[in-house]
Amino acid sequence: MKVVLGVSGGIAAYKACELLRLFTESGHEVRVVPTRDALRFVGEPTWAALSGRPVATEVWDDVHEVPHVRIGQGADLVVVAPATADVLAKAAHGLAGDLLTNTLLTARCPVVFAPAMHTEMWQHAATQANVATLRERGSIVLDPAVGRLTGSDTGPGRLPDPAEIFQVCLRVLSGRPRDLAGRKVVVSAGGTREAIDPVRYIGNRSSGLQGYALARTAAARGAEVTLVAANVALPDPAGATVVRVESTAELREAVLTAAGAADVVVMAAAVADFRPATRSDSKIKKSDGGEPEPIRLATNPDILAELGERRTTPSQVIVGFAAETDDVLANGRAKLARKGCDLLVVNQVGPGLAFGTPDNAATVLVAGGEPVEVPRGPKEDVADAVWDLVAARLG
Ligand code: CTP
Repeated sequence: MKVVLGVSGGIAAYKACELLRLFTESGHEVRVVPTRDALRFVGEPTWAALSGRPVATEVWDDVHEVPHVRIGQGADLVVVAPATADVLAKAAHGLAGDLLTNTLLTARCPVVFAPAMHTEMWQHAATQANVATLRERGSIVLDPAVGRLTGSDTGPGRLPDPAEIFQVCLRVLSGRPRDLAGRKVVVSAGGTREAIDPVRYIGNRSSGLQGYALARTAAARGAEVTLVAANVALPDPAGATVVRVESTAELREAVLTAAGAADVVVMAAAVADFRPATRSDSKIKKSDGGEPEPIRLATNPDILAELGERRTTPSQVIVGFAAETDDVLANGRAKLARKGCDLLVVNQVGPGLAFGTPDNAATVLVAGGEPVEVPRGPKEDVADAVWDLVAARLG
């Protein structure tokens, strides 16, 4: 596929080198079109060497080849990473002062913008209006990641992880529908931890991979995604707003808050059913030679059942997960009814199955419908199968 990588003048330009490599190493033909200011951060020889193609910023090079029209016309995808406030403004208003903005006007393929700038610039009404204009016209504008910015400040404005931008681009190139556009989706992921004392906790082995795949694929299908992540060590999926939590109480609070305005809630997190009835404020010491004190447990609220009971709109779709070792389907069916959800994704767990692996297989139980088998494959494929069923239910 022919990809145009537009790079505008922000410090995150160096991260676009990694994005470029991900494209070239997977066989894509990439033409890099930096702005003049981008070259102040990363020089022309770097782009030329990594892409194996000529690099120009102005419309005046190789004029006989009419590059200001040809590059955009011939592209299967244009991705601008990083996209500065300046380039978003120019694109929204159709300015065409250099090769990149000319390319954006002549491209008829999908366009992805990965903004990166300081929080104040991102949140400014002018930038937000430009982003809204671009989205209305069908461009995909990722939300920037939250974290450390240039200097000591932190906030929304970081370029999403290049591997995550790459995943979004692959999805766009695959031509899958953006059938969740305009939908608000909440996904919980990872596993909750219940503190015993300041250094110990009761936890579980959930890696968060399936929940993150659900968030990533929902964002790629156009949804506005809130990802409530319990103790997950993975890069933020591009385009998702990530809320980090630790305990079941924190997860419940975050999920119920976000669920208020959501069209869909997917509970992929492994939620601890029990917590220590009391949490010691100081580290529990081993008593000399004596028997350890037993840990008394208290039952946690069942968040999924709560969501099923109090849907904020009658059409809200609630999806649960179930990890089962025995009687997988019978237990799954009972759980679907008990928890009052619309879909229940049932995984069989055991050695090499489900936890921490990139692959998964599932049976999706559907309230009032036939079960759907999802064959073993990448967790993204399982996620897409879930979103297919959700999209059908949303109508
Ligand atoms: N879940 C939840 N709140 C809890 C426990 C689980 O919201 N306190 C959600 C999980 O996120 C998952 C689903 O419920 O979507 C299934 O969880 P699971 O622990 O498998 O079900 P249980 O009802 O705990 O049944 P059992 O432990 O008997 O298998």
